[in-house]
Amino acid sequence: MNQFFQNVWKGLNSSPKYLESKYFYDEAGDKIFEEIMECPEYYLTNCEREIFQKQTAALTDKFLSQLKEFDVVELGAGSAAKTSYLLKHMVSQGIDFTYYPIDISGNVISNLTKNLPAKIPGLILHGLNGDYFDMLDELKLMSDRNKVVLFLGSSIGNINLEDTEDFFRLLRSHLLPGDMVLIGFDLKKDPQIILAAYNDKEGITKRFNLNLLKRINKDLDADFDITAFEHKPVYDAETGACKSYLVSSKNQSVRIGEVGRIQFNKGESIYMEISQKYTVAQTDTFAINSGFKPVHHFFDSKNWFLDTLWQAV
Ligand SMILES: C[S@@+](CC[C@H](N)C(=O)[O-])C[C@H]1O[C@@H](n2cnc3c(N)ncnc32)[C@H](O)[C@@H]1O
Repeated sequence: MNQFFQNVWKGLNSSPKYLESKYFYDEAGDKIFEEIMECPEYYLTNCEREIFQKQTAALTDKFLSQLKEFDVVELGAGSAAKTSYLLKHMVSQGIDFTYYPIDISGNVISNLTKNLPAKIPGLILHGLNGDYFDMLDELKLMSDRNKVVLFLGSSIGNINLEDTEDFFRLLRSHLLPGDMVLIGFDLKKDPQIILAAYNDKEGITKRFNLNLLKRINKDLDADFDITAFEHKPVYDAETGACKSYLVSSKNQSVRIGEVGRIQFNKGESIYMEISQKYTVAQTDTFAINSGFKPVHHFFDSKNWFLDTLWQAV
């Protein structure tokens, strides 16, 4: 049985039901996510893009103030649209580095490999297709230089708050003292602004969530009726957890391949994804508790988003 099937079967047989958000990103999911990033309500991209456009030189100077030479690694690179500003600047400054984008989507890595060096002449790129930590293990065999690891887009927010420090400790265990990480954190703000980002008027986020059911239909021979599920995001301002659910609009039974059926009651939900929001102090505490020291905070002009730079101690 493949891993995708095992994880889907386990999640849909749990109570409450859930699906793992890393499976959002097949070829169709990658494209829909790019649409999300461009929709007006999804402020995260604009805020972080502004940091990468306006503070490129300051970012590069901070890296160079700590490390003589280094390679750049990106966890979950996606389209690398924001990273491109930084890469372009670093190449233009004659900095000698290799860019290693890591992504679980083969489609992402083949697109980056094909397109990015053409867009940024002089860029040396080596794509790594797989899970973050498996690929960091592979990378150890390829380069013994210090690393600057980018983890953007507040992708960290897709990990439950109680597991976040474990994630950073695991990341630290894959790095050398002196290595740096630049992490995008979406900050707590007006709940209406946050909720709108996950419930855009055009329904792109809804399509993104339903696409995972389509992917299960296609790859695991299932028969989800995607018109019988509603998209429902919920934000808890106290904890900062923004969670997305797909809610069954009727009693129904869904077949998953040859293996069996899953029953849904009307109103029963599948937990799809968390997009956690943070305070700045919380992010500094993560660093200190997981073997890093905070070096610098880069904010957008609205102070809605933080790219924080840490160094492994
Ligand atoms: C939300 S997108 C963010 C893309 C980009 N970092 C940005 O800020 O625009 C997350 C990306 O991470 C990748 N991804 C998700 N889980 C992953 C994992 N466990 N290992 C490697 N890549 C992963 C997805 O394929 C997707 O391209």
